[in-house]
Amino acid sequence: MRNPSAARQRRPAAKADKTGGQLVGRAPLAVLEREAAGCTRCPLYKNATQTVFGEGPQDAVLVFVGEQPGDREDRAGKPFVGPAGALLDRALAEAGIARSKVYVTNAVKHFKYQPRGKRRIHQKPNAGEVRACKWWLDRELAAIRPALVVALGATAAQSLAGHTIPIMKNRGPVDFPGHAGFITVHPSSLLRVPEQDRKAEAYEAFVADLRRIRRMLKTEDAAA
Ligand code: URA
Repeated sequence: MRNPSAARQRRPAAKADKTGGQLVGRAPLAVLEREAAGCTRCPLYKNATQTVFGEGPQDAVLVFVGEQPGDREDRAGKPFVGPAGALLDRALAEAGIARSKVYVTNAVKHFKYQPRGKRRIHQKPNAGEVRACKWWLDRELAAIRPALVVALGATAAQSLAGHTIPIMKNRGPVDFPGHAGFITVHPSSLLRVPEQDRKAEAYEAFVADLRRIRRMLKTEDAAA
């Protein structure tokens, strides 16, 4: 499924069905978000402030999937509003992609952390948590039917592929089950590069990926 535009045209409308008494399939995003607010599918809801659902228009052609909300996102209830989000916004703008036209979400929708004094230290979600939360990601993607799904980092790639996947070896266009995809790095990995020269290089490579994604969509004004 290497031609994202064709993939979108070919994809049949998903049927609405019922699972566990909840409306699934092509439920509108607003319905899904309301249901996800009460999610107890894994234990992460117990310590998080709230479910951080995806954000963006239901007719988006491009979906970005991150790992999980961070400290700022957990408090705000919105994805990618902290330092990684600021970097993502800057890179999207440089690549000519309007964030307001794309859908941004996470593989895991509750913040997983370890308290350390007053700080809350990010913990990587485990495979079971990623699998449990795929239920919501699948429903978001069924509602949106994007032309292309972009995995930001290893956890998103793992969720979308259904197994662990080395991201540097697979960086670029990929076929995820049911979706034309693209793997790139997580913006927070760019924030962690210690050396200034290498940091700038890594950032430029990320922007180059976003420009390539924009070209892949062909319908330039759909995301710009
Ligand atoms: N990192 C993520 O993966 N997602 C967010 O929403 C914020 C930081």
